[in-house]
Amino acid sequence: MMRRLRTAWRLPAVQALLLQILAGCLLGLLLVMWWYFIPAVLVSTGIAVLLQGVIAALLARWRKLAVWWWVIQLFFPMALFLAMALHLPPVVFLAAFLLFLLLYWHTFRTQVPYYPSSFAVWEAVAQLLPTDRSIRMVDIGSGLGGLVLNLSSRRLDSEIMGVELAPLPWLISWLRARLSNSRGRFIRADYVDLDLSQFDVVFAYLSPAVMSALWDKAQAEMRPGSMLLSNEFKIEHHAADRVIQTERMRTPLYAWYI
Ligand SMILES: C[S@@+](CC[C@H](N)C(=O)[O-])C[C@H]1O[C@@H](n2cnc3c(N)ncnc32)[C@H](O)[C@@H]1O
Repeated sequence: MMRRLRTAWRLPAVQALLLQILAGCLLGLLLVMWWYFIPAVLVSTGIAVLLQGVIAALLARWRKLAVWWWVIQLFFPMALFLAMALHLPPVVFLAAFLLFLLLYWHTFRTQVPYYPSSFAVWEAVAQLLPTDRSIRMVDIGSGLGGLVLNLSSRRLDSEIMGVELAPLPWLISWLRARLSNSRGRFIRADYVDLDLSQFDVVFAYLSPAVMSALWDKAQAEMRPGSMLLSNEFKIEHHAADRVIQTERMRTPLYAWYI
């Protein structure tokens, strides 16, 4: 039980929520003191909401959360306040919640949200694939399936698959493969449970938060002669064997030969 609580506390999203609650308590205390000492001057709701955001952002900084959490903490109460001021029917919030749940699923745990890689990256990956033999490749966290579908159409001799945890992106990629008669395959699973020894090439476009664990997994499972690719994100303390950055790519592609 205690271990579970400690694991949950380590998740930035959980800390952010608890810090918002703490900020609310501190704000309450501040307002009580204000009313006690300066009862003639009323604090408007807008100012109180602004203060809530500022306190929560300072707490996020104190807890050493990543910089984007400071920004989220600052603007979250204002966004909530504005959304409530619109007097939208509750069903709109339910629909938005369900949409984001299906799209992002366990992002609060994995810390890897959905954002797609570009066509230029797919081209760079295609150039890196061995051409003297057929290969098995996996995109771990395949999103809407763009990379897998593109490479499957270029490499008819090879088996390219995607693994995706979130239900909506997986469903969309699966449908895209069906409708376009692609040989690309998509499974809904956590790549952490996947045995990487089955693949000649593993492609990842994840987030800095998971790169070190991915390196350990790749070292433990990937076969000699296979290749690990990461779009945008390096692995600390493990320099890549190749770094590809063409003019059309916004971010580099890193390659490690195992
Ligand atoms: C940055 S997107 C990359 C999408 C795709 N690879 C591309 O290049 O366009 C990362 C994806 O990984 C998925 N993901 C995150 N953690 C995962 C996990 N443990 N197992 C499978 N998929 C995961 C997310 O849901 C998201 O769709």
